[in-house]
Order: sequence, then structure tokens, then C-alpha cells
Amino acid sequence: MSGNTFGNLFRITTWGESHGPAVGVVIDGCPAGIKITEKDIQKELDRRKPGQGKLTTPRKESDKAEILSGIFEEKTTGTPISILVRNNNQQSKDYKNIKNLYRPGHADFTYDMKYGFRDYRGGGRASARETIGRVAAYAIAKKIIPTIKINAKLIEPNPRLIEEVKKQGDSIGGLIECTIKNVPAGLGSPVFDKLDARLAGAMLSIPGSKGFEIGSGFKSAQMRGSENNDALVSEKKKVITKTNNSGGMLGGISNGMDIVFRVAFKPTSSIAIKQQTVDTKGNNKTIEIQGRHDPCIAVRAIPIVEAMAGLVLTDEYLIQKTVK
Ligand SMILES: Cc1cc2nc3c(=O)[nH]c(=O)nc-3n(C[C@H](O)[C@H](O)[C@H](O)COP(=O)(O)O)c2cc1C
Repeated sequence: MSGNTFGNLFRITTWGESHGPAVGVVIDGCPAGIKITEKDIQKELDRRKPGQGKLTTPRKESDKAEILSGIFEEKTTGTPISILVRNNNQQSKDYKNIKNLYRPGHADFTYDMKYGFRDYRGGGRASARETIGRVAAYAIAKKIIPTIKINAKLIEPNPRLIEEVKKQGDSIGGLIECTIKNVPAGLGSPVFDKLDARLAGAMLSIPGSKGFEIGSGFKSAQMRGSENNDALVSEKKKVITKTNNSGGMLGGISNGMDIVFRVAFKPTSSIAIKQQTVDTKGNNKTIEIQGRHDPCIAVRAIPIVEAMAGLVLTDEYLIQKTVK
């Protein structure tokens, strides 16, 4: 299976399935001498893990990071960094009675079509546990770009609505907005590796993400040039723009303004409500999904959006050092 590696100079490969013994990441291309402790990695992982309030799944996952290589005396050595997190709260029995059914909204049918074989316990590589490796890698990437500040937040829906749909055994979608401050002008590349294209690809690689827009985004389709253009001004010898409809980049290259983008997440596919589906032999069936699931994926995706943005920017920062 290809498609497990992300990045050019700062390159990560995530590995593992939701119901296997562990998940993890190998980071290659990290410069030597970066100070990093297990605590730094744990801090990021703790923000990602479930069971942290009424709005997430009650599944408790300890998600303890173990560093296997690439760090000596709390400093990166320049060799591949390998981080492992054991899976120890997986309840495979939840999946036994639906092993021959394709769950609506999940990758069960498409994985079978691609590989002809599938680990039916949970989502396998499509599970959100895969994102642990991305978040662990971001804990290290963050140290390479310490002045760049990345903050994502949920802007839709409100917590009350999430609790309401949860009580109904249903789920709901959500919208995350991410703002990145202190980005130097000049990051990104033209054409195929435009910074907006890389961010879009990174965000749409997060399980359950369905939409991406930057700056004025989809609204720009209804705007006039006179409204959407950001006027340039010089302030204290620094070129800035009066508005930021471009979302902090033009021609795929950062302009020094805040990068602002939004990511739409679909409602969680696993719902307690009975649904129509098909079994692996092609018979029409109904399915009732058991187990503990997030009522709104977007709530838990916040640190993952920040992590993916950080991985793109770290990679682009290292690339820019080779240019100028
Ligand atoms: C943090 C996070 C938690 C998730 N938790 C669940 C969950 O509890 N139940 C579920 O059905 N999907 C969950 N998902 C989404 C599925 O992994 C995803 O929708 C599924 O694999 C199908 O892939 P696609 O929606 O990207 O096409 C979660 C995603 C993220 C990012």
C-alpha cells in the first residue's frame, strides 16, 4: 500500500492499524541537534486523545509515546526518528457481528475493492488512530519553526447541538478554522507545490475531512475584484495588505500575512441508528453499529489540523533554506 509518506525534506511515514499492537511514525530528514523530550511529544498526543469531555467518544486511550530511535540525550541525532504508541483499549469484539457488512460512510467497501482483503476490526489504516503519528511528528516539527504559531478552533457547530445529536444516537459535521501567525513571506513554491495546494492536500488527507477553503475561499466566487483584492500598504518599511482575502499567500507563496483556512468535516459515520447496507456477498442488509464513537469528528480533529499545517510549513521552511 503506497501513500503512507508525507513531505519532501521533513518526511514522515505513518504505520499501523487501529486494532494491531501499535501505531507510529518514522520521521526522516529532521535536522540534528533539535532539543526534544518525550514530554513534548506527550503534550501534543494528550490534546489528540479521546475521552476528554462530553463532546468526544468515552473511549479511553492512554496513547503513551515511546521513542525508539533518532533521539539521544534529548536531542535529535539527524537519523530517522521512530515513535511508537501501543493500542491498548481496542475492543475488537464490537466488530465481530458486522465483519461481513460494509458500514455506510466507512472505507470497508472501498478497501475490499482495492485489496480484496480487509482487517474488519475497526477502520484499519482509515482509523483516526493513524493520525497519532502525524501529531507526534508535529511535536518535533514545531521545534524547527518555533516562532510560527498555529491555532485551530471549531467554528461550527456549537457544543449544545453536538450533545443533542449524541443523545439521538446520531452525529454531526463541523467546521474548523485555522490561523497561522508569524509566517515569513516567501514560503511555498509555484505551480504544483503551491502552498495552498499543499495545505489543501494535507487537510484532505485527514480522515473525515471533506472541504477546504483559504481566505475568502468559496465566497470569492460571488465577490468582485474590487472587494476581493487586498490593497498593499507599506507600514514601518514592511509590506502588508489592508485586508486578507488571499488567506496569506499569492501564487502559492506566503506573503507574510496570517494564513487563514477552513476545513469541513463530515458527520461521524458510525451512528447508533439502524442503516441500510450490503454484505460482502452482495445481499441487501440492515446494520446496527455498536461501540463508542465521536459524535462530531471535528472536535477531535483540531490538533490534527494544526499538526498537518505544521508539517507543511516545516517542510516548506526547510525547502526555503535551500533557495535563499
Ligand atoms: C479525530 C478523528 C476521530 C474519528 N472518529 C471516528 C469515529 O469515532 N467513528 C467514525 O465512524 N469515524 C471516525 N472518524 C472518521 C473516519 O476515520 C473516516 O470518516 C472514515 O475512515 C472514512 O474516510 P473518509 O471519511 O475520509 O472518506 C474520525 C476521524 C478523525 C479525524
